[in-house]
Amino acid sequence: MKYNFDKHINREETSCVKFDLREKIFGNPDVIPMWVADMDFETPDFIREAVIGRANHPIYGYTFRNSDYYQHIINWLWNNHQWKVAMESILFSPGVVPALNFIVKIYTNPKDKIIIQPPVYFPFFGAVKSHDRILVYNQLLKTDTGYMIDFELLEHQAKDAEMLILSNPHNPVGRAWTKSELLKIADICLKNNVLVVSDEIHADLVLPGFQHQVFADLSPEISDITITAHAPSKTFNLAGLSTSSIIITNPELRLMFQQYIEDLHIGMGNLFGVITSNAAYEKGNDWRLQLIDYLQSNIEYVESFIAKNLPKIRVFKTEATYMIWLDFEAFCLTDEALKAKMINEAGLGLNPGTDFGPGGEGCMRLNIASPRNVVETAMNKLKIAFSY
Ligand SMILES: Cc1ncc(COP(=O)(O)O)c(C=O)c1O
Repeated sequence: MKYNFDKHINREETSCVKFDLREKIFGNPDVIPMWVADMDFETPDFIREAVIGRANHPIYGYTFRNSDYYQHIINWLWNNHQWKVAMESILFSPGVVPALNFIVKIYTNPKDKIIIQPPVYFPFFGAVKSHDRILVYNQLLKTDTGYMIDFELLEHQAKDAEMLILSNPHNPVGRAWTKSELLKIADICLKNNVLVVSDEIHADLVLPGFQHQVFADLSPEISDITITAHAPSKTFNLAGLSTSSIIITNPELRLMFQQYIEDLHIGMGNLFGVITSNAAYEKGNDWRLQLIDYLQSNIEYVESFIAKNLPKIRVFKTEATYMIWLDFEAFCLTDEALKAKMINEAGLGLNPGTDFGPGGEGCMRLNIASPRNVVETAMNKLKIAFSY
């Protein structure tokens, strides 16, 4: 079956963060929203049918996840990432960001040092700071060929850090870290006893020509010091259903997470989160592959439009995710002025680079998971504001 990603769906007045919070976030309810990481595409029929099928049963009482739920995740990880995971290693969390906060609380103590790699997904900062841990910035290096990890600095920082939170693939700069890069991180963390939290929520959205490497799958020793976050929520646009997996192969570490979830009584999850996860993982690979083709063509369109019409904007190569990281440094604007110009002159709602911490200055994150003609309209608006 051929899915239609060009179809427009009106998301307004559905309590949709991306559209319905524009006034609050941008001070303007009319910007084209190209910010928060969800997609404007229709949810595929097999997921909607699964929801409707269960919704037709008129009782929505207490629920549990049976072995089918775990088996679909196991099959998905094996078929798409060649990662063999035992059922017992998969734990539930009502979202990856909540899990990051739990993980920081479970495995570290106040004033412990936790490394992150900015510019990076902003809830990483909160997960560390809100619990009185100390943020250590292993800032990514912006080079002529794209973003790289500062391994020399990491070697030094790892000596007295307890944890590294990795975005693998990386949001917002769009890197799908290579096996050799991840092996270097692993080597440093093993040597220094640093626990690695590998947030792999974007793993299913690696673009043609690039590969996702599961961090924990580098070796059994690495798996032993790794906690992996995975979910169907980015891949299938199910963020509103709060269902994700925390995969821990080390039994001692696993028990600690399990106990925490049980103590808080948040382990039941959401009935429809389970239904949609099952349908997505059982029937969704064809849809995912078509989605990736569509995203890739949107990315190529943006790259060539900007190269032709707006050469002062640097476009970083997107290797994974549906975000494009744009660098406006050549315009010599303050971040405030860049943000205001994007909203008021281009009429676009993007995420300011500074939201992603140090290294985000002068940059913006563009979400291209929208029908092509929305992306085309956005590019023409960008041209009006920035071609000088
Ligand atoms: C790296 C990363 N982790 C986690 C999330 C969100 O996870 P959740 O919605 O499950 O809390 C996002 C969403 O954009 C993300 O980019």
